[in-house]
Amino acid sequence: MTQGNFPVDKMKGIETPYYYYDMDLLKKTLKVVKEETKKRGFTQHYAVKANANRRILELIASDGFGADCVSGNEIKAAVNAGFPASKIVFAGVGKTDKEINLALDLNIFCFNAESLPELEVINELANKKGKIAQVALRINPNVDAHTHEYITTGLNENKFGFALSHLESAIEKLNELKSLKLIGIHFHIGSQIEDINIFEPLCQKVNELQDFFESKGIKLENINLGGGLGIDYENPDKNPISDFEGYFEVFKNNLKVRDGQQVHFELGRAIVCQCGALVTRTVYVKHGESKTFVIVDAGMTDLIRPALYQAYHKVENISSNLPSQQYDVVGPICESSDVFVKDYDLNETQRGDILVLRSAGAYGEIMASQYNCRDLPKAYYSDKI
Ligand code: LLP
Repeated sequence: MTQGNFPVDKMKGIETPYYYYDMDLLKKTLKVVKEETKKRGFTQHYAVKANANRRILELIASDGFGADCVSGNEIKAAVNAGFPASKIVFAGVGKTDKEINLALDLNIFCFNAESLPELEVINELANKKGKIAQVALRINPNVDAHTHEYITTGLNENKFGFALSHLESAIEKLNELKSLKLIGIHFHIGSQIEDINIFEPLCQKVNELQDFFESKGIKLENINLGGGLGIDYENPDKNPISDFEGYFEVFKNNLKVRDGQQVHFELGRAIVCQCGALVTRTVYVKHGESKTFVIVDAGMTDLIRPALYQAYHKVENISSNLPSQQYDVVGPICESSDVFVKDYDLNETQRGDILVLRSAGAYGEIMASQYNCRDLPKAYYSDKI
């Protein structure tokens, strides 16, 4: 029996909970992203933070994408999976000396620097190694992404990037820092952005900033627009997965790209989200005073997004064809927030039934924890199950 794209019989036999990845869907998504970027002369670096599973990284690397990393360990994971260091960018507000040294030793493409003290430290460490480090300034453009407050990054109140009012001093500082080469500017205004028109004010801001840098005699080789394109959590089988074409077209139409300039993107979620599902088994069906609970063996330790951001993941019972009933689907963790969905219509569910939580390929497996001394979830793949 298969339900949707799930080989249910095979899946039933595997110890739960685990992540299941549809590798064909990932390949198809990568193909679309590649075509849509290539058509417009853009470059895509995959945001490793969305999913650093080795097989996922290997597939993305083998397709020629670069990698956007935010820690030394992400850089190592990217290199081990086959991303060339020359296609790695390194962002993050708190890069440590150890991480910067690693990135310098590997000769990564660029540091996306987020503050003056960070520029000074990269300069000092590069100088010690007799190297020139390529840097881009991550700029906080104060553009509202209209997304969940925890995943909004481009407002003045957020910790990320240089404030617009500090750019002048950053440029002055860069003149003194002889082991740095400024190659570009970098932005990332937030994640799960569903209205692509929000990227228009970002483009306007970038255009103004390009004029500003040119007025200071600085020609930028590289513009990096970050990631953020959202997906439809209500419709995990939607095709295409996201409006990649519309997204890149907003930039094509609104960004004033200079001759010879490279335009980079760092999508994470839109690339990997729909190819992943969290697979779990019903441990008990419990009748409470006013509700019926489906208690499953996956919890917020395996997929924290509902507990952390009140995020919605569609739940399907792939073992049952019975008429639906209303349930709260909850995990076994000792926290009241360990709830996946409430008052939810699900095919009548029995102990042992397999449930899938859809759209879990991004910020799922990678955000798992071992709270309550739980095992980390394993992963299985459609081409090797
Ligand atoms: N570039 C930078 C600098 C970022 O900070 C991020 C995500 C990305 C690219 C990729 O953004 P994406 O295309 O995936 O939206 N854990 C949260 C999402 C946090 C996103 C953090 N930054 C969630 O589960 O919704």
